[in-house]
Amino acid sequence: FPNHLIRNFAILSHIDHGKSTLADRLLEETRTIQRKEGPGGNKQVLDKLKVERERGITVKAQTASMFFEDGGKNYLLNLIDTPGHVDFSWEVSRSLRACQGALLLVDATQGVQAQTISVFHIAKEQGIKIIPVLNKIDLPAAGPERISSQIATTFGLDPSEMLYISAKTGLGVTDVLKAVVGRIPAPTFDVGAPLRALLFDSSYDRYRGVISLVSLQGGTIRKGDRIASCHTRKKYDIIDVGIMHPEETSTGVLQAGQVGYIACNMKESAEAHIGDTLHRVGESVEPLPGFKPTRAMVFAGIFPVDSNDFTKLEESIKRLTLTDRSVTIQRESSTALGQGCRLGFLGTLHMDVFRQRLEDEYDASVIITAPTVPYMIIQKGKSKIISNPTDFPEASEVSMRTAEVQEPMVNATIIVPQGESMCEYLGDMMDLCSSHRAQDIDHRYLDSSGSSQRVILRSKLPLSEIVTDFFDSLKHRSSGFASFDYEDAGYEKSDMMKMTFMLNGKPIDALAMIVHRSALSHVGKGWVKKLKEVIPRQLFEVAIQAVAGNKVISRETLSAMRKDVTAGLYGGHYERKLKHLNKQKEGKKKMKRIGNIDLPQEAFFTVLSSK
Ligand code: GTP
Repeated sequence: FPNHLIRNFAILSHIDHGKSTLADRLLEETRTIQRKEGPGGNKQVLDKLKVERERGITVKAQTASMFFEDGGKNYLLNLIDTPGHVDFSWEVSRSLRACQGALLLVDATQGVQAQTISVFHIAKEQGIKIIPVLNKIDLPAAGPERISSQIATTFGLDPSEMLYISAKTGLGVTDVLKAVVGRIPAPTFDVGAPLRALLFDSSYDRYRGVISLVSLQGGTIRKGDRIASCHTRKKYDIIDVGIMHPEETSTGVLQAGQVGYIACNMKESAEAHIGDTLHRVGESVEPLPGFKPTRAMVFAGIFPVDSNDFTKLEESIKRLTLTDRSVTIQRESSTALGQGCRLGFLGTLHMDVFRQRLEDEYDASVIITAPTVPYMIIQKGKSKIISNPTDFPEASEVSMRTAEVQEPMVNATIIVPQGESMCEYLGDMMDLCSSHRAQDIDHRYLDSSGSSQRVILRSKLPLSEIVTDFFDSLKHRSSGFASFDYEDAGYEKSDMMKMTFMLNGKPIDALAMIVHRSALSHVGKGWVKKLKEVIPRQLFEVAIQAVAGNKVISRETLSAMRKDVTAGLYGGHYERKLKHLNKQKEGKKKMKRIGNIDLPQEAFFTVLSSK
C-alpha cells in the first residue's frame, strides 16, 4: 500500500457519546465484520475486555484496519478506538501518535462535555486534522443546529465541516468514511528509509509471548527480519507480522505509514517498552520521540484475601500491567494484611477497573486499601514523595515540625446545564466544590443564547478531595447531567495529618490515612463507627480509636463477649467439645492479629469496600 492510499485516524469523544458504536458501523460498512441485524447485532466489537462489556466503557484503545473503496481507489484505513474517561487520557495521547487525523464525536442530545474539551486539546496539541461529527441525531431530543453552533464556538471549528450521523442506525456513516479519506492527510513516511517502528501498545499471548502494536514511521518490516530495540538494545527475529482486521491477520509485511502487530519471540512483558523505537539490526537510526511517562496519582495497597495466594496475585498483577503500563508496582507488607503490592494508578476509575480485571481475568480475590494521593514533604531544601500513609511522619515527630507538607492540586472543569428550571444545578455544583476545599471558583456560559444553556465551571481543588466520593456526588447532585474532567495543577502547601486507627492501643497499619486537619473529626468518627460494626466481639473489651497528632479524635468501645463458647457443652461430651475447639482453630487461621485481638480478613474487606 503506497502512503497516499493510507489513512490513520482515531475516534475521540466524551464517555458514552458513541465511539465504539461508530467503530462497529465503520467495520460493517467496510465489510471488515459481517453486519448483524436485530438486538443480537454487533455491539462494541472492539471492547474485548469483560469489564468493558459489563460497564459499557472502553478502557483499552484498540486498533482495527479496514479497506474502503472511494472514487475507484482502494484505501487502507487504520482506526484506533480510544477510551473516553479522564483516567485513560494517557491511552488517548498514545494512540494519537500513530494518527494523522481524528473524528471528534459529540452526542447531539448532550452537546460538548468535559472530556470533549480535554480530548480536543490533546488532538490539537498533536497538530492532527480534527473532523467534528454530531452523533445520535436519530434521537428525538437531539438538537443538531444548537449543538453544532456550540461546537463551532467552543473549538473555533467551521460549522460547514460538521457531519451529522447516527452510529446506531448507520445514517451518515458512509460520509464519515469519505471524510476520512478526503480530509485527513495521508502519512508521509518514507518506505525507502531505514526501518523505524514506534511501539505504542502491547499484549501478552500465552503461546507467542509479547505481541506489540507498531506504527511504521520509516522503512519496511518483514517476517524473518532481525530487529533491535533502541531502548534495551536487545535483538529479536520477527516471527509474524500483520494487521488487525479486526483480529490479527498475518500479511508477512508492513511498511511505512501502516499500523499493525508484530510477534518477535519477546518473552518478558517488561521488554516491550511503550514509546520504544524498533529498528533493523545493523542500521543506526535516531529514535522517534518517546512518550511522556505517566505519573501515578492514586495509590492503594492490594492484598490477597487469603494470604497464601500472594505469589499468584503478584504474578497476575505483573501479567495485567503488561496490557496497562500506566500502573506502577511495589511490594508492600502489612501486619494486618500480610504480603501485598502497592500500586499506583492514574485515577480511581482506573483503580476500580484494574481490580475488576484482576477478578475477571485472573480469578483473584483482593482487599484494596483506601486510595491515597502522593504527598510531598519538604525539609531542609530536600523533597520526598510519600505515597503510603504508613510512611507519613507523625505530627509529633521533631522532623515534622520543621517540615512542610504539600499536596497535589488539580484544575477541574465541570459542565452543567443551566436553564430556567435547572437554576439549582450551578449553585449545587459550587457548593460541592466549596465543601471539597475548592479555590477560585469561576464560571461562564458555553452557549451564547437559548433557554437551556450550559455553564462551564472551573476551579482548583486538592486531588485528594476528588479521589473519594466527588464524582458520585457530582452525578447525584446534578441528576447525572454534570460532566467533569481535571488536569494536573502542581503541588501546594497544605495542613495534612496522619490518622491512625487503634485497637486497644495497637495501630492497624493498613487503615492509616492522610487527612486534612479540618476533616479529622468527621473522618475519624465515620471510620471508628464502621470498624465497630465489622469487628467481632472478643472475650474482653476493645477500644477503637482514631488518633492524629497524639490526640484521640474519636473513640468507640466494643463490649466484651461474655459467653464461653464451650459453656453449653458439658463434661461427658468431650468429643463434641474438642470438635468445636478445632473448628475454632480452623477459623483462627484466617484471622489476623492486631495486638491480642483476632480479626477476620473479611472485616478489612468489608470496612474497606464500604463507601
Ligand atoms: P466509551 O467507550 O465508554 O467512552 O463509550 P463510547 O463512546 O464508545 O459509547 P458507546 O458506543 O458504548 O455508546 C454509548 C451508548 O450510546 C450505547 O448504549 C449506544 O447504543 C448508544 N448510541 C451510540 N450511538 C448512538 C446513536 O447514534 N443513536 C442512539 N440512539 N444511540 C446511540
